[in-house]
Amino acid sequence: MKPDLAIDGTFYIDGMLVRTSVGIKDGIIISVRKGIDASERVSFDNSIILPGAVDLHVHFREPGLTQKEDITSGSISAAFGGVTCVGEMPNTVPPATTPDRVERKIELFRSKSYVDFIIYAGLMEGVRIGPLSSVAAAFKMYMGSTTGDLLCDDPDVQWDLIRRSAEAGKVVIVHAEEESRRNRISERNLRDHYRARPPACEIEAVRRLAVYSEREPKPRIHVAHTTVREAVDLNHPQNMTFEVTPHHLLLDYDMHLGSRGKVNPPLRRREDRTSLLRLLESGMIQTVGSDHSPHTLEEKGDEFDYAPSGLPGVETLLPLLLNMVANEELSMQAFVRAACEKPAQLLGLRKGRIAAGYDADFAVVNMKKSVQINADKLHYKCRWSPFEGMYGIFPDSVFLRGEEVIRNGALVGKPRGRNASA
Ligand code: DOR
Ligand code: ZN
Repeated sequence: MKPDLAIDGTFYIDGMLVRTSVGIKDGIIISVRKGIDASERVSFDNSIILPGAVDLHVHFREPGLTQKEDITSGSISAAFGGVTCVGEMPNTVPPATTPDRVERKIELFRSKSYVDFIIYAGLMEGVRIGPLSSVAAAFKMYMGSTTGDLLCDDPDVQWDLIRRSAEAGKVVIVHAEEESRRNRISERNLRDHYRARPPACEIEAVRRLAVYSEREPKPRIHVAHTTVREAVDLNHPQNMTFEVTPHHLLLDYDMHLGSRGKVNPPLRRREDRTSLLRLLESGMIQTVGSDHSPHTLEEKGDEFDYAPSGLPGVETLLPLLLNMVANEELSMQAFVRAACEKPAQLLGLRKGRIAAGYDADFAVVNMKKSVQINADKLHYKCRWSPFEGMYGIFPDSVFLRGEEVIRNGALVGKPRGRNASA
């Protein structure tokens, strides 16, 4: 079979940088070897070619909250940041808790998204797991309250929903903050927000999840945005995995971010960042996800106590972490594992690896091109970033299933996103 396209360059393949060619047909990698003959070819010098990142944690806010973001602006931001597949969370308005609503979101993404996507359904008492599991890629459970009304804090209900999700063969992504361990205090700054949702909130919730994970039928639980080492260190079974966000790795409560740094779970201490980074490097934390949760500047400008929690990050995830790789703070191996391979593997997507049979999604990066992050140059509708002024390595070109969506730093693609879990 002759490929439609061959790309020549230095690829990151199974832990190594290899000078080779990749042959692509109908958007899928069909061969990886030197000397591929193809109808069309492109070549990249002075760059390395990585798998496109798979960000399992975004909130693109459509439908219902499109003053903050929408599928068009969110997915264009993802593409510019080298993210070729996103996992969309259910706390939209209305929330994605019925098969009809999940299908409606799939249709919206299909017509608007510039990158591939998967759609999650929200778990709450009374949802119909069977019908939902045939349309949603995975489920999301909120053990603690945050943006939206998807709280599920009753242990009996939690286990019932997790058990039935396991029977349906679905991964449950969990917002693990124990509601009863929150401190109802009035908050003026990031340290107060930390005290309102102390580490015990997360540790307690993860401890409970570890108990659920031991039961039959063994559920697949992925703990979203882990912030403390103690939670990951609990003696938990193999079927429980962890995500960390770039903001919990790179920001802490002593930074002067005001309500722009208000997020759930909260930014922690500087030393927590160091331990999270170690856990990411060692593979004890399996994935990195942005938890891209934009709010408008107007909303964030409210008094700290009333300002909503959440910050944008889908466009800066890969750039910030690649900058850490360039500074030798993180290995390339750990980066590709956590940003590409593991998230795809977790949900059974043929993405995140440069190998025959996988989608031809790539981020082409020049590791010497580190630039300062400037929200005016990002593509979020909310027009701000908590990482303003920090350094990032943005991809020059990005491929989605064999077609360039970003070329030389400009958007050239069309909205041809596909449901990657279908
Ligand atoms: O800070 C947060 N914001 N944490 C979440 O879990 C939800 C998110 C949002 O949707 O705004
Ligand atoms: Zn989230």
